[in-house]
Amino acid sequence: MARSMSFCIFIALLAFAPICFSFKNNNGNLYPQYYYKSCPKAQEIVKSVVAKAVAKEARMAASLLRLHFHDCFVKGCDASLLLDSSRGIVTEKGSNPNKNSARGFEVLDDIKSALEKECPQTVSCADILALAARDSTVLAGGPSWEVPLGRRDSRSASLSGSNNNIPAPNNTFNSILSKFQRQGLDLVDLVALSGSHTIGNSRCTSFRQRLYNQSGKNKPDSTLDQSYAAQLRNRCPKSGGDQNLFFLDFVSPTKFDNSYFKLLLASKGLLNSDQVLATKSQASLALVKQYAENNALFFDHFAKSMVKMGNISPLTVSSVIVLEDLIACTICLEIVNHGKGIVTEKGSNPNKNSARGFEVLDDIKSALEKECPQTVSCADILALAARDSTVLISWWTKLGGSTGKKRLQKRQFKRYFKLLLASKGLLNSDQVLTTKSQASLALVKQYAENNALFFDHFAKSMVKMGNISPLTGSSGEIRKNCRKINSS
Ligand code: HEM
Repeated sequence: MARSMSFCIFIALLAFAPICFSFKNNNGNLYPQYYYKSCPKAQEIVKSVVAKAVAKEARMAASLLRLHFHDCFVKGCDASLLLDSSRGIVTEKGSNPNKNSARGFEVLDDIKSALEKECPQTVSCADILALAARDSTVLAGGPSWEVPLGRRDSRSASLSGSNNNIPAPNNTFNSILSKFQRQGLDLVDLVALSGSHTIGNSRCTSFRQRLYNQSGKNKPDSTLDQSYAAQLRNRCPKSGGDQNLFFLDFVSPTKFDNSYFKLLLASKGLLNSDQVLATKSQASLALVKQYAENNALFFDHFAKSMVKMGNISPLTVSSVIVLEDLIACTICLEIVNHGKGIVTEKGSNPNKNSARGFEVLDDIKSALEKECPQTVSCADILALAARDSTVLISWWTKLGGSTGKKRLQKRQFKRYFKLLLASKGLLNSDQVLTTKSQASLALVKQYAENNALFFDHFAKSMVKMGNISPLTGSSGEIRKNCRKINSS
């Protein structure tokens, strides 16, 4: 009991604060529901235009996916890549990585004009890029993920940023990794995201050096399968044919799968930057092997890394986080007040003088009653608010920064499991998780070390908890006011 209470309090701490934050602040963070009110059809419109373009030309999925990457690595995901040259702006489209190579801009124009018709000046080009990358991946058979939204578009471009920050195919492994690290991405992100090369094409000019003169000695790259190299030389001569196209993954060039990693293990990666993932680092090779064997793991890591990449320095309305908002609404278990024959659960030991946030739920309910009367249940509102809050708070903790308030947030949410290991769990029911069961201790250790695993388990357990004996079908009712049962 004590343990489950502690779990509830922990969840509630994570869960309810940002509801206030999302209602009170016009917040500066990204979250998937950003356009739910202002442009409810935004995601549907992006998906349908992308689907048409990909149906017309399968490669377009690859081209759109790549544009999000080339946008995010230059001043963050702010659609600076899409700006043409004009007064004071020199377009990034002319940089080395983009010239004669980046494509798909006209599809983005189509999406933007459809969205401008539906909800003028509402959906940013940066968000369109992020959504189009996700939709393209799904259409090619890859994983899906929820795209955090709310990015704004930049008012400038950076040609030099594009030339310097986007890795080149002939960069060394260390240089590529450090370009990722500069963006806050790590080795797992590098290897997983390179898996994008499971779809799409490369020009001869991007890998010619490997075929003829890899290191200034007029010899081909010894890490490239020699019969594959001979085939490539047929259409990628020593000079000329620069723009000739080759599949990055010749086994399944339009299917998003893990065959790219299998090719790397067979020395058949097309770009030097692909093959070095298997030849220049044991840690990277280990990941390549895992992804080659386990498609689900690749998909899982890819989706997470795409969200991480999409989160690189977005421009948002405001990044101010107010701790009071967090403290202002914490826990919310049952919200019916005293009424006919009902004794409220708010007076129970776990709730009295403790459970709070009810007025936020009142606000949500009255907004929903206006939009669609007696349709959305209070029970579902609680479940959705818990999910949305958790999503929002994960962006909070990433903000870091120097104020005392922000430091406190980090301590409260990021380090919970580390604190338990340091015997600094506040409640007895927290600390017993490390002291009374070896199995529980093992989990605490895993979560303390591996935030992604904690997030994964947390999300699954939240779904499980939300499935506890719901009233469905003809049982129960949809309350008009969450504090009262409807009068019959
Ligand atoms: C790790 C460093 C990377 C390097 C050095 C690199 C380099 C390249 C090069 C040289 C091409 C061929 C361009 C051409 O010849 O026109 C290419 C294509 C592509 N890249 Fe990357 N890339 C990297 C990472 C990524 C990432 C992180 C993504 C996506 C998240 C991505 C997605 C793609 C896609 C989908 C294509 C095919 C585009 C098409 O067919 O239009 N790449 N990349």
